[in-house]
Amino acid sequence: MFDFYVANRNSKVFIQLSRIYWQLQLKGHATNLERAVNKRTKELIKSKSEYKKKASEADKASQATLNILEDVEEARQKIKTSNKKLKELDKLKTDFLSFVSHELRTPVTPIRSQLQRLLSKSLSKTERQRSLQMVLRNTDRLDRLINDILEISRIKSKRLKIHQRKTDISSLVKQASHTFDSLAKENNLKLIVTVPKRNIIAYVDTDRIKEVIVNLIDNAIKHSQAKKIEISLKKTSNELIFCVQDDGKGISQDEQKKIFKTFYVGIEKRPSSKSAGLGLAICKSIVQLHGGRIFVKSETNKGSIFCFLLPTKKQKKYK
Ligand SMILES: Nc1ncnc2c1ncn2[C@@H]1O[C@H](COP(=O)(O)OP(=O)(O)OP(=O)(O)O)[C@@H](O)[C@H]1O
Ligand SMILES: [Mg+2]
Repeated sequence: MFDFYVANRNSKVFIQLSRIYWQLQLKGHATNLERAVNKRTKELIKSKSEYKKKASEADKASQATLNILEDVEEARQKIKTSNKKLKELDKLKTDFLSFVSHELRTPVTPIRSQLQRLLSKSLSKTERQRSLQMVLRNTDRLDRLINDILEISRIKSKRLKIHQRKTDISSLVKQASHTFDSLAKENNLKLIVTVPKRNIIAYVDTDRIKEVIVNLIDNAIKHSQAKKIEISLKKTSNELIFCVQDDGKGISQDEQKKIFKTFYVGIEKRPSSKSAGLGLAICKSIVQLHGGRIFVKSETNKGSIFCFLLPTKKQKKYK
C-alpha cells in the first residue's frame, strides 16, 4: 500500500516535472521565436529604410537628370535664338552693303556723265557752267552721304563720342539757319528765325548739335513743300527747346512711327530719290547721347513740327 502510494506520488511528481519541463521547453521556443521575429522585424525595418533611402536617391537622381535636360533644352533654345539673330544681322549687313553701294553709285553716275560731256564736246560757256555745277552738287551729295554713313556706323557700333563744350546755342541756330537763306529763296520759302535776345548757353558737342539743327531745317525744305518755315529756340530753367515748324504736307501717323529709323525714306521718295533716310536716325542718336529727346507732331496737309530738348547744364558723363 505504501509502495503504491509512493509510486503514485512519484508518477504525479514526474507528470508535474514533465509539465514544467515542457512548459520550460515551450517558453524557450517562444522566446527564440520572439527573438527571431524581432530580429526579422528589425531586418525588415532596416531594409525598408534602406529602400526608402535608395528610392529618395533615385528620385534625386531623376530630378537632377530632368534639371540637366531642362538646362540642355534652354541652351538649345538660346543657340537657336542667337543663330536666328546672327542670320538677321547677316541679312542686315548684306542689305546695308547693297544699299550703301547703290546710294554711292547714284551721284557718281551724273558726275561721270557730266565729266565725259565736258571732255568730249565743245560746249558753250553756259553749258560748261551748268555741267560743272551738276558735278559740284553731286560731289557735295557724295561727300554728305559718306559722312552720314560713317556717322551711322559709328552710332551703331557705339563709337560715337560726345565732346561737350560751352556753346552759345542762339548764335549756333542763327548761323545754321543762314546757310539755308539762298536755298529758301530759290524755293520761294519764308524762313523765320526766332531766338531770344539773351544768349542761351549749353554744354554740348557743338558740331553734332549743329548737324541736328541743319538736318531738321534741310528736311523741312526738302520734304514738306511748305511756304513758310519757322525756326525757334527757347529756354526753360534747365533745358533748351529747339523747333522747326513747317506748314507743308505733313506726315501721316503711320509714317511718324518710321521716320526716325535708319534708312527710312518717305514712300513717294523711293527709288531714285536724293534721300538716304539717315538724317533723322542720326539726329535722334545725337540728341539721346546728350541726354535729350527729339519728337515730331504732325498732321496731314497741315504741316509738321520737329523739336528737340537738351539739358543746358554740364553733364557729368554722357552715355
Ligand atoms: N518736315 C517734313 N515734312 C514731311 N516729311 C518729312 C519731314 N521731315 C522728314 N520727313 C520724312 O521723313 C523721312 C526720313 O527723313 P530723314 O531725314 O531721316 O531722311 P531723308 O531726309 O529722306 O534722307 P537724308 O536725311 O539721309 O538725306 C523723309 O524721307 C521724309 O519722308
Ligand atoms: Mg533728312
